[in-house]
Amino acid sequence: MLNVYDLRCEHEREPFGVIAALPRFSWKLSSDRRDVVQKTYRIEVATDPEFHAQVWSSGVVNGSKSHLAAYSGTELAPATRYYFRVQAGDNHGDQSGWSKPSWFETALPVGGWASAFIGMDVPNEKYSSRPIYLRREFTLAEAPQNARVYATALGVYELYLNGKRVGDAQFAPGWTNYRERLAYQTYDVTSLLVKGKNVIGAVVGPGWYKGELTWLGVRGLYGEHAALSTKLVVKDGSQSVFDLASDAGFRAAEGPILFAEIYHGERYDARLENNGWSEAGFDDSGWSQAVIREFDSKRVTPQDGPFVGMQERLPAVKLLTTPRGERVLDFGQNLTGWVEFAVKGKAGDRVVLSHAEILDAKGNFYTENLRSARARIEYILKGTGTETYAPHFTFHGFRFVQVEEYPGELDPSAFTAVVVHSRMAETLSFSCSEPLLNQLHHNILWGWKGNAFDVPTDCPQRDERLGWTGDAQVFIGTATYLTDSITFYRKWLRDLASEQRSDGGIPYVVPDALTGVMVADANVKDSHSSTGWGDAAVVCPWTAYERYADLDLLREQYPSMKAWVEFIRANAEKGLIWNTGFHFGDWVALDAKEGSYFGATPNDLTATAYYAYSARLLASAAGALGMTEDEAIYRKLGDAVAAAFRNEFITPSGRLAARTQTAHVLALVFRLVPEAHRERVTRDLVALLDENGGHLTTGFLGTPFICRALAENGRLDRAYALLLKEDFPSWLYQVKQGATTVWEHWDGMKPDGTMWSTNMNSFNHYAYGAIGEWIYGTIGGLSPDRDAPGFESVVLSPRPGGGLTHARTSYEGPYGPITLEWQRDQDKVHIELSIPPNSRARVVLHEPAAGSVTGSDGLRFADEAGEIAATAGSGSFRVDYRISPTAKG
Ligand code: BGC
Repeated sequence: MLNVYDLRCEHEREPFGVIAALPRFSWKLSSDRRDVVQKTYRIEVATDPEFHAQVWSSGVVNGSKSHLAAYSGTELAPATRYYFRVQAGDNHGDQSGWSKPSWFETALPVGGWASAFIGMDVPNEKYSSRPIYLRREFTLAEAPQNARVYATALGVYELYLNGKRVGDAQFAPGWTNYRERLAYQTYDVTSLLVKGKNVIGAVVGPGWYKGELTWLGVRGLYGEHAALSTKLVVKDGSQSVFDLASDAGFRAAEGPILFAEIYHGERYDARLENNGWSEAGFDDSGWSQAVIREFDSKRVTPQDGPFVGMQERLPAVKLLTTPRGERVLDFGQNLTGWVEFAVKGKAGDRVVLSHAEILDAKGNFYTENLRSARARIEYILKGTGTETYAPHFTFHGFRFVQVEEYPGELDPSAFTAVVVHSRMAETLSFSCSEPLLNQLHHNILWGWKGNAFDVPTDCPQRDERLGWTGDAQVFIGTATYLTDSITFYRKWLRDLASEQRSDGGIPYVVPDALTGVMVADANVKDSHSSTGWGDAAVVCPWTAYERYADLDLLREQYPSMKAWVEFIRANAEKGLIWNTGFHFGDWVALDAKEGSYFGATPNDLTATAYYAYSARLLASAAGALGMTEDEAIYRKLGDAVAAAFRNEFITPSGRLAARTQTAHVLALVFRLVPEAHRERVTRDLVALLDENGGHLTTGFLGTPFICRALAENGRLDRAYALLLKEDFPSWLYQVKQGATTVWEHWDGMKPDGTMWSTNMNSFNHYAYGAIGEWIYGTIGGLSPDRDAPGFESVVLSPRPGGGLTHARTSYEGPYGPITLEWQRDQDKVHIELSIPPNSRARVVLHEPAAGSVTGSDGLRFADEAGEIAATAGSGSFRVDYRISPTAKG
């Protein structure tokens, strides 16, 4: 039986604010047969869920397209809900019924934002961290059939209707390049409105717009005034019957939130609560009239990424008293979010909490690594029975909470940690026979949860939390395994392109909070265009394309990708060796000089290697887009840079000019080493590891690729050995130290209990978690097939080794769930795989013994350049083979 399920429009389920003129639809197929390929499909679009009022029928279309098939009917009306459904037929002659209908809603007319931005007259507002409250009463003649609120803010807002919170988005409107793009959110509020008097209300906090940002303590980066802008539309059919835009008719006041800053926390005085402030009948005569704030409405655009939301709730696992006598709650997991608590006491009693990621070697509460971020909550009770509180406009990176004040007895069950991050479906599960590796996977996942906070951030705890491009670039290959991340990165890449300099340079952080405010120091000069950081402009769209096959996204980013490569060309000697400018290089590598952040690999080597890499990826992007001329130009450029690299950095007999692990890793993985010297360079890399007791010394740029460099060059055994090292420095050293996320430094906490300088020591930094991509792709054996992106074809190619006896990986891709499980017993390997309909797999068995496939379940394996490979259609298969006794692993 053939079934169509999981309908999406522009990658999302039931999205609001669809802006594409020709939106694209995706669906998945299920079938109880093997080898299912879609042969035909039909899409219908209507304005009603029964499909009476049909807007478009694709008719029967021949073809296998089930991912991003474009609408091609008449022009869609703005701000309208459309329903769609899909039917498919396959190569076995099976025909599905109509799928369950789904829907999408189109955005407001482009450029049509007409509501005023309204705020409150607050003296010296730039320096105020106190949120403002806004309200407006209105009357409806009838209970509405259909109502929407469109809302945005300069700052971050919470919206209320008739006393109820609207939607469950946190930190809306999110952080974009407000100088060009400000997102509005759409809410279906039909059920919240009543006939008669209604009230719309909102609280607006400083957020990223005007609150404190960066370690430089900048305020008012984008503007000095917090403001709200909303539009309420009540419709009867397609006819608008009531419209209310924010204007000076709103009333404004301050309320119980005395202070709210992303880095510093929140102060709340419950005695100042205005009961019923967002309900009808509230006396707002003491409130002032809202004031109009200037903002160029052309920048207002529909939300194009996922919401930040509350995702999980974790109880406190322990209440401890530290040697210093501090009362500390342990939530057992380093996380991003906040603590919700219940409390009883007298009016004026206080709850005071501070947050930390770790305890120090003596077991005391440790906050020095937060630098200037205060991460402190102060709640003043109103004294009316049990009161519950959770902050509104702040978040913290923490595992431990010090309870500095709390009236009455401290009961840990009164506290819950709320995990907050961008809402993306988890798409990967991974487990294997090595528990420490499973914990590492857990830590990688939590590093991602902790740093996907509307923008991909470096860390969630100190006075930074910025969209560092280098970190994003090294991690995207892992992030796209872990969650369905396409719209998250699409949004961020739009900001990146919008902030790209006219010479093609890329800011260090996106949104760019540094240009114009940067004060150069020894560690950070300039504010844009470091190698390995700016390359996010190319690596991120390309990786997104590989994983989600969205050509529109690639096309949209292409000018930005190209401008970055041209920036490098313009700054490189003879257009080939990039030896100018400031670079972070192999940041925080262990081969750095004592106390320095800069790894020992020379910047010109790293920069030229990345230049070749980006030029070649750009050529591939041009190829995918059918831009053959550009493809040839950048292929040639990539090869010329690679040749220049060899000339400059590799001796004729194959010795690399820099004796660092990272130099060898990048040269191998970016295909810069002449074939004849691959073995030597690999041998030298192994020698460098040996000199260091088998340990790595790599930083941000070498670490993601080190296992790959070894495994792809015949040293799978060393890749496993490196990954499975348990002593310092290594991934599993952190795990054995009790880490629940990934650290910024290998020596964040040293074996003797001392720590890396307080200056920069995050315990939740996903960069080194970039090894996830290798774990899932090589140990797990499941990776995208470049020849058929979006997992239309998947490479299933397990590489047992390291003494592991099994691994199981499952990934939910655009075609459905893919699973690969292997078990090893001596030289016998048993694998089970499953591939969703309308996709296929290239199953590759590495280093098998001759004639060793003993069970192939109908798959036809053939010798392919030393590997045994088969192509599998959809379905489940079991394969048995024997690994060659000479196999390394
Ligand atoms: C951030 C990094 C970032 C770096 C630039 C740090 O402060 O936390 O992760 O990439 O600066 O080198």
